[in-house]
Amino acid sequence: KKVAIIMGGYSSEYKISLNSGNVVHTYLDKNEFESYRIHIFKDKWVYVDENDKEFPVNKDDFSIRTNGKTITFDCVFNAIHGTPGEDGLMQAYFELLNIPQTSCDYYQAALTFSKRDLLSVLKPYGIKSAPSYYLNMGDSIDLDAIVEKVGLPCFVKANKAGSSFGISKVYKKEDLQSAIELAYKEDNEIIIEAFLEGTEVSVGVIKFKGETKVLPITEIVTENDFFDYEAKYEGKSQEITPARITPEQEKKVSEMAKHAYEVLKMKGFSRSEFIFVNNEPYMLEMNTTPGLTTESILPQQAKIAGISLAELFGNAIKEVLP
Ligand code: DAL
Ligand code: MG
Repeated sequence: KKVAIIMGGYSSEYKISLNSGNVVHTYLDKNEFESYRIHIFKDKWVYVDENDKEFPVNKDDFSIRTNGKTITFDCVFNAIHGTPGEDGLMQAYFELLNIPQTSCDYYQAALTFSKRDLLSVLKPYGIKSAPSYYLNMGDSIDLDAIVEKVGLPCFVKANKAGSSFGISKVYKKEDLQSAIELAYKEDNEIIIEAFLEGTEVSVGVIKFKGETKVLPITEIVTENDFFDYEAKYEGKSQEITPARITPEQEKKVSEMAKHAYEVLKMKGFSRSEFIFVNNEPYMLEMNTTPGLTTESILPQQAKIAGISLAELFGNAIKEVLP
């Protein structure tokens, strides 16, 4: 089967996505799949061969031409973090072209990519989240109202972004304005959330051999003030799998993550983050194209569950092939 691994993307996360995509390309079983690296950037969509030579993608049917031959794909492996791979744009495009792709469908991607919309849809299902305040670019900013609603410290986040780009932990009202400006660099919507004190865990839920499967849970211990970019990618954190939580906590958060996955009719990979406050998990967000480098959390969880990278990636493709 011919598989196009899409990577790159238009957001600040493009470098992480290139790492994820290259790992998928390296580990996919060559006997089962012929994989092609496709870079998706604003100014060019190209196939990149083993010598890093680039060939344009025909956007009409997502085909490529190399050595005088036209190649079309049986499946797309989505390794783009952020827009346009995690917010539904690519998903809708492939659905229109009738090409199966490994991540969730366009609606689920768009919904989950907005932290505000995800958390508000899940709330009636008993999935708790932090008190929050929402801003759209151009809204007047009432700092007193923000502090009254979410307290201090609080987190100022781009509503639709990943890898902690645009996130600040704010301790003083005077610092809110600059944090808001920073978050607006990543997105035109902002969510400001109360700070929740407690153990942070990351829960991977995937489709595996046709079933919804919760992977071993990871505890995040950051050396920085919070699990920011440096903590995530420059070693300033420890990711402990399985998490040092009680069996009761494990059961609760696993069921909650699986419930969210099923309620939303998800497909493919997901990795949701929670913080325990008095034994109750509060959801922060869900990532539908989580990092897939060998150091990333979801691949680590899979490994501990006895699933190799080749099996993890191969299964994701088999789940969606007709
Ligand atoms: N957004 C990053 C890639 C993640 O969730 O792993
Ligand atoms: Mg994220």
